[in-house]
Amino acid sequence: MLQTENSQKPHDRMAAFLADDLAAVNTLIRTRMASEHAPRIPEVTAHLVDAGGKRLRPMLTLAAAHMCGYEGPYHINLAATVEFIHTATLLHDDVVDESGQRRGRPTANLLWDNKSSVLVGDYLFARSFQLMTETGSLRVLDILSNASATIAEGEVLQLTASQDLGTTEDIYLKVVRGKTAALFSAAMEVGGVIADAPENQVRALFDYGDALGVAFQIVDDLLDFQGDASAIGKNIGDDFRERKLTMPLIKAVAKADAEEHAFWVRTIEKGKQTDGDLDHVLALLQKHDALTDTATAARTWAAQAKDALAPLPDHEVKKMLSDLADYVVERIN
Ligand code: IPE
Ligand code: IPE
Ligand code: MG
Ligand code: MG
Repeated sequence: MLQTENSQKPHDRMAAFLADDLAAVNTLIRTRMASEHAPRIPEVTAHLVDAGGKRLRPMLTLAAAHMCGYEGPYHINLAATVEFIHTATLLHDDVVDESGQRRGRPTANLLWDNKSSVLVGDYLFARSFQLMTETGSLRVLDILSNASATIAEGEVLQLTASQDLGTTEDIYLKVVRGKTAALFSAAMEVGGVIADAPENQVRALFDYGDALGVAFQIVDDLLDFQGDASAIGKNIGDDFRERKLTMPLIKAVAKADAEEHAFWVRTIEKGKQTDGDLDHVLALLQKHDALTDTATAARTWAAQAKDALAPLPDHEVKKMLSDLADYVVERIN
């Protein structure tokens, strides 16, 4: 059946609109992920890159550049840069989280080992810096190097917050803003900066990316409890197993009675988990409306992302970005 433009998902519509650019980005990614000297590098990167991924962040950069009237070549570099940074963090993240599945495939740490994942991740980080340097824009370098530091800070903050039942929604939000939203906002911002957009528009791009990134991670954390492993390409229940205090758990812990609190102490603080525990967690989340309340929070952030678009020029991509914010949250259903 032929799909009409409107029946396509926002993500697909944007990919279709940006198809030529995305093809150029993919070519650049493939060229730069190669290594003459260490064959393990292209093996690992090809494993991840061939599996696809949604290419959400590079699309944000391309969309922002187009919306702000950019006509040069460097949005391609920047889009490849953000995907490299993203891919590097995924390699590292799956080591830290001891995850076994990514993009519907076994993780690199499982197929090869932690050492390969860490080192190839480092390689991709370094490659990303080369790619952005080629734009000649110091401001772009500033934004993306800051974002990289902020991502790492978010991951480290999460490390110390996990297993701690005292973790608040404020701390959670700090983690999420760092590990996820920082790259979304930077991806948007550099698209505007390379296009020489006025400051109020650059700010709007940042704000959209920040709110979208927070909504996206909240939904990711929700899907870790109620998603479908085959649809999201990752295992369910990883966060609980890793004793991570994500929004659904924080909400349930806040409403726990004495018996429930003892359960959280055993499973999260002490890490003594047994077979039926994840089912019990799901029942507690249900009992305290933790999943529906988390979905509401994600919707609020998505609405904030849409509002942030107001100062930006009218452009067909603007509507796509607005729809994308809705779509990110619709992944829940
Ligand atoms: C995964 O991001 C990491 C998170 C921030 C949750 P994506 O879900 O965008 O990953 P890919 O690139 O599509 O695999
Ligand atoms: C996302 O964090 C990884 C980064 C943004 C660095 P998570 O650990 O929550 O994401 P998934 O679920 O593994 O993709
Ligand atoms: Mg992870
Ligand atoms: Mg993680």
